[in-house]
Amino acid sequence: MDITTNYLGLSLKNPIVPSASPLSKNTDSARALEDAGASALVMYSLFEEEIIEEDETFDNLMHAQALGSAEADSYLPLPDCYKNCLELYLEQLGKLKTSLEIPVIASLNGTTNGGWIEHAKDIEEAGADALELNIYHIPTDINESGTDVETRYIDIIKAVRQQVSIPVTCKLTSQFSSPAHFIKQLENAGADGVSLFNRFYQPDINLETLEIDATLQLSSPYESLLRMHWIALLYGQTGLSLAATGGIHDANAVIKLLMAGADVTHVCSVLLKQGAAVIKDILEEMSRWLEENEYESVSQLKGSVSKGKAINPIAFERVNYLQVLQGYHL
Ligand SMILES: Cc1cc2nc3c(=O)[nH]c(=O)nc-3n(C[C@H](O)[C@H](O)[C@H](O)COP(=O)(O)O)c2cc1C
Repeated sequence: MDITTNYLGLSLKNPIVPSASPLSKNTDSARALEDAGASALVMYSLFEEEIIEEDETFDNLMHAQALGSAEADSYLPLPDCYKNCLELYLEQLGKLKTSLEIPVIASLNGTTNGGWIEHAKDIEEAGADALELNIYHIPTDINESGTDVETRYIDIIKAVRQQVSIPVTCKLTSQFSSPAHFIKQLENAGADGVSLFNRFYQPDINLETLEIDATLQLSSPYESLLRMHWIALLYGQTGLSLAATGGIHDANAVIKLLMAGADVTHVCSVLLKQGAAVIKDILEEMSRWLEENEYESVSQLKGSVSKGKAINPIAFERVNYLQVLQGYHL
């Protein structure tokens, strides 16, 4: 059984890739993922906000020092061992590259076309096999149009593309007015792939304290259907690598997403709930299913139930909406 796949130009031994999570902050937990069968690893993100905050703190510190006594111009010296968030990130990337055999995909997370983008180059130089850009922008400004939002993404992709030659993929939210058209524009701007979709972490209101409750809830398997729908629509319409992320908890979800057209399926919540060993279970179950259903490879499965190839492709369109509503019986 050939379960290899190609993602962002990387040949992977199977389609299970842990997505960005704290599990990559520690070399032991990352190695446990590799031992369980992960075919590549996406690192936790380096956030634009962290970089900016640290730069500001550093500037304030240096400014305060400049205003101090001339005789004491070396007070508050920066210890030699002080490392900023970028250095720590690159150090961890280096450790992962040394201790793992699988490709490591680094992750930059931010929303502006600012200085943080230049760190893509540092990440490439530190040995990342690819770069995932997570532009988790929430357009709260009533004056920011849909076109402005899309342009923001496209400008960031173009700027990063100029910095690096490693593959670049973009992790997106689902909330664009015309996702397929927008994704085509990302491809034209130089992206190599998209990862669909970011989960929205909607804050809740605590009725006792009347405070905003921003606790992270892990995903539920139902969420994978949104990803399956859009990947099935995109397959064959774009040359981008397609990754699915969100709600993938078992082999059935992996198989369905591959059928829709995903090149890889990312897992995160299920790893945090059940531990790294779940990857081995998923891979075994997936291989068993492929064998029982007489598939010879993952490539054969890929895109076989995408919109372009499905027996009833209109089920992916508005017709499905109509049928679903009318098919409900009291
Ligand atoms: C604790 C935690 C930390 C995460 N950290 C990041 C991160 O640093 N960068 C990122 O792009 N996504 C991050 N994610 C999102 C996951 O990579 C993933 O896209 C999301 O959880 C959906 O997949 P799942 O349903 O398998 O959990 C994080 C998720 C969790 C639960």
